[in-house]
Amino acid sequence: MSDVRTFSLPSRPFQAEVELPGDKSLGHRALILAAMADGDSVVAGLSSGADIAATRRAIAALGVGGAGDAIVSPGIDAWTAPRAPLDCGNSGTTVRLLAGALAGSPVSATLVGDDSLMRRPMARIVEPLRLLGADVSASPAGTPPIVVVGRPLHGARVALAISSAQVRTSVALAALSADGPTRLSSPPGFRDHTERWLAHLGRGRAEGEATFIVEPGPVPPLDLQLPGDPSSAAFLWAAAAIRPGSRLVTPGVSMNPGRTGFLDILDRMGATVEVENGEPVMGDPVGTVTVTGAALQGILIEGALTVRALDELPLVAVLAAAADGETVVDGASELRVKESDRIESSVALARAAGGRARATPEGFIVSGKDAAAPTTVDARADHRVAMAGAVASLARGSSVSVAGFSAAAVSWPEFAEVLEGLWS
Ligand code: S3P
Repeated sequence: MSDVRTFSLPSRPFQAEVELPGDKSLGHRALILAAMADGDSVVAGLSSGADIAATRRAIAALGVGGAGDAIVSPGIDAWTAPRAPLDCGNSGTTVRLLAGALAGSPVSATLVGDDSLMRRPMARIVEPLRLLGADVSASPAGTPPIVVVGRPLHGARVALAISSAQVRTSVALAALSADGPTRLSSPPGFRDHTERWLAHLGRGRAEGEATFIVEPGPVPPLDLQLPGDPSSAAFLWAAAAIRPGSRLVTPGVSMNPGRTGFLDILDRMGATVEVENGEPVMGDPVGTVTVTGAALQGILIEGALTVRALDELPLVAVLAAAADGETVVDGASELRVKESDRIESSVALARAAGGRARATPEGFIVSGKDAAAPTTVDARADHRVAMAGAVASLARGSSVSVAGFSAAAVSWPEFAEVLEGLWS
């Protein structure tokens, strides 16, 4: 079966309002916290993507029931040992967060995944979890399989060298089962969803921008509606930004400050971005975002802004190809260890979008507006590269075929239809 999808999108502007899939980062957190709680939770708006399905399957293997929005758990102390390794598919968030939750549970488990996941770095969770007394190990190369032997944990001081929300959350989930508080710090810029939710649930408090103290203890069952995913919305926001005169409204999107870097980038490149604040979900901000397209210009992206737009940087490469002048992305070496090497993927995307591009050790440089003949780009088994490839056709002004497009189903199986539907 050929897995190539060709995008040839109208050149006229569009006006649309789109309902987004539930936020993937928050979906993983909600499922795992609901699995740790003793009782019945309701989590509405879970995305239909394969990553969320992987977390759902993994908690089911620990004895957590429920269907649809319902999650029915006996609580972490009554989790059952899985009979086989937990297959986390393509989802780094599933492996890293579950390893943390399992560390202080009564069960042992092995965590594995697809080819891409089996290459991703895990020493970043193994080392800090051991500071809490966890029995966690990775392969000699520091990759999965991850083996966790659940055991009693103690509180610790954990100072992380990288600004990773997955690592912070892994440690925080373990710290809930410890015998005393854990003090967690890292460089800033990370999405602090977990910290906000734990503070809301009475399980900790923030100290300044990047330190959080986890107070151990049980979490209550959850009852919440997930906000829309800004990392999915970004593909549609980019489509609006690239076509001057287009206007896209996305209600109910997560506005966590660690997720809004891409909106700041759109604004600085020349698009109009309006945010109307909505009702926060467990202390985490939500808003309605409207993006109006305009002529774009290249900018410099570095420091905390890079971290706050991390998952959207391949898409920035596409936008940069549609902009006047040069765009420089720096401080983004983490892109090398995502679902694909996203520095190389971003360069390929920028070229597919009609720009000139080159990789640098910690990012990439794109200058915009060049070729316009139809082309092909490889999704590299990476959902965000597949979706950015579709948007590249708008920047290029001719068709772009995405080889391996089905990778998009990891986070947004309905994406192609939603994108093509913007003009209807
Ligand atoms: C995520 C954190 C980020 C992000 C990933 C999801 C999360 O990863 O890239 O897609 O849900 O915590 P890092 O923690 O590796 O920066």
